[in-house]
Amino acid sequence: MWHASGRNVLPLRRRGADLGFVMPLRRELPSTATAMRVWNASEPVCLPGILRDGLADSRGAIASSLAMFERLREGGDFLTEMERRMGDDADFDYIGSSGDSDDARDIEAVFFAAQSGAFAGERDLWARASWIANDNTDASMRIRHSSGDGAPDGWLRASDRKCRAVDELARRAFEECRVIDCCAPLHAVLAALLRVPYRLSERILYNNAPDGGAVFHHDAENGQSGVCFGQLEGSTAWLTLSKRRLAGLLVRRGLAVDERAALTRLDCSDDKPLWSLLNRDADFARELSAHGAAYVLEAGDAILLPSQAFDDCAWHSVIALGDAPSLAHSYGIFREQREPMVARRKSR
Ligand SMILES: [Fe+2]
Repeated sequence: MWHASGRNVLPLRRRGADLGFVMPLRRELPSTATAMRVWNASEPVCLPGILRDGLADSRGAIASSLAMFERLREGGDFLTEMERRMGDDADFDYIGSSGDSDDARDIEAVFFAAQSGAFAGERDLWARASWIANDNTDASMRIRHSSGDGAPDGWLRASDRKCRAVDELARRAFEECRVIDCCAPLHAVLAALLRVPYRLSERILYNNAPDGGAVFHHDAENGQSGVCFGQLEGSTAWLTLSKRRLAGLLVRRGLAVDERAALTRLDCSDDKPLWSLLNRDADFARELSAHGAAYVLEAGDAILLPSQAFDDCAWHSVIALGDAPSLAHSYGIFREQREPMVARRKSR
């Protein structure tokens, strides 16, 4: 059920690409039955306003994180920021930091160990600050929390306990985690969708800056059932739909002979014409919009991106809106008993 909420038409621009406009539509919270139907179809589940009641208690923490990103953008030291946040922590101790990485976007990773408390003995827990794009016109940043020796996929080998230790580290460093952790209506939806115990891990803070965002990709990973993204300040535009529906649009455009060929083409990481269509073509963005794949998230909104399998997941693209960098938290959704995915495929 959609209602126009005004005539506020917002330009979609990302790293110099003009992707047209989007008009925010006020959507209502879906019923549980609708959310389940949408989730099971590997389509995004938009949950407008579901986090709103929890924002008031976290205003200070949200402002603090936004100010931290501003300092980092101006050359501030991430280790100093983490020291400020974790220096007095009773359980987590700083054990080192590393700026070395093969990824030019990385700024610094700060490592911790739990010396006491529920996760005592867990080591190599880290928070890593990085730029989102390899393009210095995009000032968007993120902070990812994970574990291991620093390799991006180290978490795939981590125990449940270690993953929970990382979650706790993120909570202690960034108190606004409670907006998502303590949102009973959100957890009621997640419980209905997953039907087994779950945790929200591999926590990432996003600070999407004007003209920035993320190109089309998916977050399907072994053991990860999906992603929960909560907008805490400012707003972002999303183009998101199931991979199969996206493949269908490519077939309609003549880019593939059938769905199977389109799915395969989407898995190809060096298909420049397809990349340009997905990420720099206003006409295609308009077509996605016309197919109900455009969303505007405002502070207090959340969106769930399911990934049941590598061909059954929600692909998504994010475009920053507004004049100032925003703040969002994005958590992986993990069932306590992991099931392997069908056919490992590469992300774009
Ligand atoms: Fe993503």
